[in-house]
Amino acid sequence: MQIDVLSIFPEYLAPLELSLVGKAQEKGLLEIEAHDLRAWTTDRHRTVDDTPVGGGAGMVMRPDIWGKALDDTLSESATLIIPSPAGQVFTQRLATELSSSEHLVFACGRYEGIDGRVAEHYVAAGYRVLEVSIGDYVLNGGEVAAMVMIEAIARLIPGMVGNPDSLVEESHGSAGLLEYPVYTRPVTWQGRDIPEVLLSGHHAKIARWRRDQALQRTQERRPDLIAALQHDERFDSRDYEVLREQGFEE
Ligand code: ADE
Repeated sequence: MQIDVLSIFPEYLAPLELSLVGKAQEKGLLEIEAHDLRAWTTDRHRTVDDTPVGGGAGMVMRPDIWGKALDDTLSESATLIIPSPAGQVFTQRLATELSSSEHLVFACGRYEGIDGRVAEHYVAAGYRVLEVSIGDYVLNGGEVAAMVMIEAIARLIPGMVGNPDSLVEESHGSAGLLEYPVYTRPVTWQGRDIPEVLLSGHHAKIARWRRDQALQRTQERRPDLIAALQHDERFDSRDYEVLREQGFEE
């Protein structure tokens, strides 16, 4: 997979050289390039923004600069991703889908954002264009949001994760639910014991306990996820029993 990131702060992306994403680049599974948007400016001040037409605070990023940068960067198979608090919410499902892409281009805006015609133009030109938010809060720019998405996508590329079992478990065991709590030795710490069932060696009982924990936690912390999964064939009658004990109503 090729990932290009366009930004006025390409140095922001330096952490992607580290850890698993860095290793994937060394292995050749992934190539990430950060480009300085100002390389496409032609004026002495290397200007990328202007005042908002119609008035208002802040500055807007110019479509002509973005147009030149994107024309030079997009390939035929590329998906253009524009991080924005006004975009669709980034989810594990979208990460999974994007992990089989050949080419992703992230256009990181600053200030009040990128001129609205840029996204429209590349949609009209036939590209897949996604405006994506990483959550309901406002960052100073798209760079950190792009890094979050790149890490979530990159770890799903086949051959990426050191321990493939951890991905299998993530996608099957409790898909759509929050993770159950995990423990390691010592068995007693600060007067607290590890739940006894986990020491029993009884695999079926352990699996059931973990599922119950995942269901309870999800109903308590993220009832919206349970509501979305309600008619999922992965929910059995025991699952519904656990959920009802937790206050769930069908
Ligand atoms: N840019 C600023 N805030 C953002 C957010 N929450 N998600 C994606 N991009 C952003």
